[in-house]
Amino acid sequence: MKNKKLLVALIAVVAAIVVAVVLYFTLGKNAEKPTLIMATNATFPPYEYYEGEEIVGIDVEIAKAVANKMGYELQVDDMEFESIIPAVQTGKADFGFAGMTVTEDRALLVDFTNTYATGVQVIIVKEGSPITCSDDLFVEGKNYTIGVQLSTTGDLYSTWDLEDEGLATVSRFASGMDAVMALNSGKVDCVIIDNEPAKAYIASNPGLKILETEYVTEDYAAAIKKGNTELLDAFNAALQELIDDGTVGKIIDKYIPAE
Ligand code: ARG
Repeated sequence: MKNKKLLVALIAVVAAIVVAVVLYFTLGKNAEKPTLIMATNATFPPYEYYEGEEIVGIDVEIAKAVANKMGYELQVDDMEFESIIPAVQTGKADFGFAGMTVTEDRALLVDFTNTYATGVQVIIVKEGSPITCSDDLFVEGKNYTIGVQLSTTGDLYSTWDLEDEGLATVSRFASGMDAVMALNSGKVDCVIIDNEPAKAYIASNPGLKILETEYVTEDYAAAIKKGNTELLDAFNAALQELIDDGTVGKIIDKYIPAE
């Protein structure tokens, strides 16, 4: 009789372990965090760039923190800058995060989250360049060649303001760094790009300098598929908490030390 009770107890314990193991591998698997896919173009230090095999930077760290707060794992997909908005529109990525400036035209294609950083377009030239300020680019007859990253605001503004007016030629590259290489080898006369990447590029290219410009400040935001208000609201709520508790500021300060 005693043995029988013991046997029942033993069976119950074994059964409980089996059930626990089965639950762990079924429900447990499903309980694993879902993934949020970020589309970016990792040629844009300090926002997103490669450190060895890994994509790092301000955007990656902020996105990780946002995803985490929302209960997601973050996956970063690197692509051409001009592919980011299409990736978001077609649902290949959940959001685009790439030091992307909020513009009216883009806002017709995607919804923008609240902004988390700002940028300014600057002009990079060789030391001793005849171009000393943005006005020099507008001088009739000079027809300077301007290097830009394809589809960026630097591309859009120089195309509209200068090339379309017959004042300059725009040369479009896959990355800002490629444009800077072309400047080094004399294929373009200047490069127009966001200020922080500009600083990073010239740090590794002696003989170049950044001209101050009066271009307006641009707001950076994440791009989300139009109509996905659930994701937009959740992203904004998480981002706002991270701005309010100082996390975003800390991440930015880590990559952009105060001068
Ligand atoms: N702020 C500029 C724009 O939105 C340049 C962004 C480029 N970003 C990048 N990850 N390459 O057009």
